Amino acid sequence: MNYDRRPSGLPRLFSALPRRDPQSLDNGPWMDALLEAAFTARKHAHAPYSGFLVGAALESADGRTFAGCNIESSSYGLTCCAERTAAFAAIAAGAREFRRIAVATDAARITPPCGACRQVLWDLCGDIEILLGNAAGETRTFQLSALFPDPFDANSLA
Ligand code: THU
Repeated sequence: MNYDRRPSGLPRLFSALPRRDPQSLDNGPWMDALLEAAFTARKHAHAPYSGFLVGAALESADGRTFAGCNIESSSYGLTCCAERTAAFAAIAAGAREFRRIAVATDAARITPPCGACRQVLWDLCGDIEILLGNAAGETRTFQLSALFPDPFDANSLA
């Protein structure tokens, strides 16, 4: 079943672009490999209710990449965002240290992670870098600490 109600030629668009050093954040006309993994993960999004497909790729300190996509429930509140799906997959695979996460959408305006994902990423990944990309080829990067200042976390429970 095709749940993607939005036009998306994005993966094809980017696959035509040459690759470059995946560690660098200067995207220019190039496609960051982690963001490319996020766009690939986006193909697996299960979003029949919103039609808003999101992919994420989380990079661990040892260089592994963990993919995630949003997975919606008919009981809407049980939906899990792409970022949390990727983080949970990474933790389930035994990863504990992380460098950055890439998030891919086809939103006209770059969409930063929701509040719930900021909390969970902070708890599980610490102050990672967040690379956001959309179908227009626009990218933005943030440190999580800039998006999630004064967090509630394990230190709050001490
Ligand atoms: N969503 C994500 O997967 N990540 C975000 O950062 C924002 C929102 C998903 C949740 C839901 O399936 C859909 O996008 C609309 O909110």
